Amino acid sequence: DIFCIYLFSNGISFSVDSVFFLSCETIRTNKSLPGLRGLRNVENIQYLSKTSKSRNSHKTGNRLVYQNLITNWMDQIVKENPDVVTKVDYGKTYENRTISLLKSERGGSSKKAIWMDCGIHAREWIAPAFCQYFINQLLQTYKTDPKMEQMMKNMDFYVTPVLNVDGYIYSWTDNSTRLWRKNRTPGPEGCECLGTDLNRNFYANWGTVGISFDCCSNIYPGKSAVSEPEAQAVTNFVGKRADEILCFLTIHSYGQLLLIPYGHPNVIAPNENELMEVGLAAAEAIKKVHGKQYTVGTSPDVLYANSGSSRDWARLQGIPFAFTFELRDDGTYGFKLPEDQIQPACEEAYSGALHIITHVHDKEFIKPTGTAATVAATLWTTMMAVFVTSTVIV
Ligand SMILES: *[C@@H]1O[C@H](CO)[C@@H](O)[C@H](O)[C@H]1NC(C)=O
Ligand SMILES: *[C@@H]1O[C@H](CO)[C@@H](O)[C@H](O)[C@H]1NC(C)=O
Ligand SMILES: [Zn+2]
Repeated sequence: DIFCIYLFSNGISFSVDSVFFLSCETIRTNKSLPGLRGLRNVENIQYLSKTSKSRNSHKTGNRLVYQNLITNWMDQIVKENPDVVTKVDYGKTYENRTISLLKSERGGSSKKAIWMDCGIHAREWIAPAFCQYFINQLLQTYKTDPKMEQMMKNMDFYVTPVLNVDGYIYSWTDNSTRLWRKNRTPGPEGCECLGTDLNRNFYANWGTVGISFDCCSNIYPGKSAVSEPEAQAVTNFVGKRADEILCFLTIHSYGQLLLIPYGHPNVIAPNENELMEVGLAAAEAIKKVHGKQYTVGTSPDVLYANSGSSRDWARLQGIPFAFTFELRDDGTYGFKLPEDQIQPACEEAYSGALHIITHVHDKEFIKPTGTAATVAATLWTTMMAVFVTSTVIV
């Protein structure tokens, strides 16, 4: 959308909780917007819409979208929450862009942490929006909600809004690139295609199931395990802190699923039952928000077998709770989730994530008082044997 790109390329600034709920269409037609309260410079936007024929705006626009949507947003969050949030640069992409996360740190001494990454797959645009929503929610609730206050004292949060920065930016180029999934590294000798599926590149049964060694494939796992700089960044950062991180959440779309380890059908997580219980309870929490049904299970059981995923790698590192979220929708719009679903998709997923995080926190920091086994028994009956029949790779 040229208009949108032009708009962003001119560095119009937005408050932290608004811009990712907007599409260009909305800005253009000026519909009433629940998320718009922070939008500034409306006159400027109207002005820009009249002058958006400017040359080169399209070419450079996609870079600037990232800069304005993500980088500037992160800087603003840090500026507005200087005692709580820092930005940590922890890697470089193939195209030499910085990979950054926001860290919330509230001085607890026991040093446990929660990991969340979004945007490992370029086209899953709802995911980065969710990471931003998640951060905003944390920062808005802890001051008044004693439970959140306690959790943020006891645990640091590491949140990467966009992991696959190159791919994400590329997907913003135009509608021929909108569905790009992989990163942007060149293929091996003799292959003309670019890109490795970062969620097949981790050191977890790498190269075994749910992959293709055709480098043009969307599930090409790379030349070797952890060959990609983006996967290396996560591996180094999380690997160093594996004892500290209690929970690893990686956010994708679409399919409305909560996936637990492992992607390989022959490997079972030692705590699979607990992961299922927590996942099913999170799905219940999600359903309560807007009635959306999420299916819970291992990848081979509810989606497809795969290998080399970051979630499986995290579990192999000894991080006890590892989940993949596949956000809305069920395939009606797929990766191009309409704008009016962005906010509800974030709200419900937040509720699910919060359930998991609360469980993880309480298990570590609150002495057990009784048994939770009866809850699990009833939840099992709600698990649906729904299979995602589509062959779309998410
Ligand atoms: C990234 O930076 C390195 C070191 O400056 C350089 O050698 C390399 O060519 C750059 N890669 C790309 C894709 O620009
Ligand atoms: C790309 O978007 C334009 C404008 O929305 C549309 O007219 C065109 O048909 C789209 N092209 C493709 C390949 O989808
Ligand atoms: Zn994905």
